[in-house]
Amino acid sequence: MPMESVGAGARRDERPHNVLSESAARAADRAARALDQWLTARPGRLEELQDYYRELLATSRLLQLQDYELEAAAYLIGTFDPSATRIVEAGPGVGLLSGVLAGAGFEVVSIEYDNARYEGLKVVAEAVNHLPSAGTLVPVSGWFPSCLAPFMITSGKRNVLLMTNVVSSRVTSQQNNILHAAVRFDDLIMDLGRFGIKRKGAPQKTLREQLGQYFVERGIVWNSGSHLLIHYGVPAILTSSPPPPELAEEKRVADLIEAKAAAALTAVLNQQRDVIVRIGSGHGGLCCTFASSRFSVLPWQRTVGFVSDIVEAFSGRNQDRILRALLSFDLAVLDISRFGVRRELAAEKHEFFGMLTAKYFEPGSLLYRQDSREYWMLKPRSIVAVP
Ligand SMILES: C[S@@+](CC[C@H](N)C(=O)[O-])C[C@H]1O[C@@H](n2cnc3c(N)ncnc32)[C@H](O)[C@@H]1O
Repeated sequence: MPMESVGAGARRDERPHNVLSESAARAADRAARALDQWLTARPGRLEELQDYYRELLATSRLLQLQDYELEAAAYLIGTFDPSATRIVEAGPGVGLLSGVLAGAGFEVVSIEYDNARYEGLKVVAEAVNHLPSAGTLVPVSGWFPSCLAPFMITSGKRNVLLMTNVVSSRVTSQQNNILHAAVRFDDLIMDLGRFGIKRKGAPQKTLREQLGQYFVERGIVWNSGSHLLIHYGVPAILTSSPPPPELAEEKRVADLIEAKAAAALTAVLNQQRDVIVRIGSGHGGLCCTFASSRFSVLPWQRTVGFVSDIVEAFSGRNQDRILRALLSFDLAVLDISRFGVRRELAAEKHEFFGMLTAKYFEPGSLLYRQDSREYWMLKPRSIVAVP
């Protein structure tokens, strides 16, 4: 296979991109050429990209998609309609895959933490954005999910989160934040072999089992043993019946629960100046609606899912869906005496609380207890254990 030498000693693979559409392959070529010129323009740029890209260069793969990226691109192009899909790539590196996807017509938001690689990502964006059939590639400098902004998740489109080959101790320490943020998307494509740490065999199987409890496997995109890319669907949590209009907007806590409980709750929430409160009450489906409505959350805001007095049949039947919906909030506040059914006895509440903390939440703190009412503030449990 002929290989041509391109600047900074990098080489570009000339093989035809036979699994990519013409427009995607053209974007791959444009992006590679632009990156090559960028690398050549100033000596030292490659060093700034650090070990990962230096190693790729040593195996001549710096300016081409790797096997799993090629498969991911082909899968995304074959599975999703570019005009109806928004892709967020977290950890794109210099962003060839993002560039190819934008070239195929997708809107892509690409979030890169490392400054030098972000500079490369901007070069790729400039190279592909003017191509006639391209969608858009928006490069973002920052950490996912801290920099997640409202425009990155759109209610009018299918929202896909893509993460390949993100190995670092920072990812490991933040893996649950990342996965909780993933619940805000419709689809997640993730490399289980390279998430925080490298995983093969048993550790990879364990991670797959853990993720399977929260996300629904839709297909295997690529499996080479060391890379396992799985397409997950985020559980459908939208209620089929719309919430009553008077409840379908943000409300003050005091409007919804009795005054004393409201005072206790408001006092706690006021201590956390960065909290935004979204409330579901009177109708369990409302919580699901909020969880899936991609409501506007600014990067510095946190979300609280609030559920009070949901004892109608819908909530009883959909208890698991509602609880899963609550997992996409930073915190959940719920009245365990009025969830799904009424619980008047301490033993009933104790049993329900035990189930909640075994399966969905950390134990948390009691906000208010009076008569039979019992409001708890709970933090969604870790999705996967830190290795
Ligand atoms: C090893 S590179 C891989 C790039 C590309 N995804 C690939 O498969 O070739 C991983 C990149 O992800 C970035 N990264 C990892 N976690 C991130 C996060 N949560 N937010 C933004 N960037 C992240 C790192 O800075 C690094 O540049």
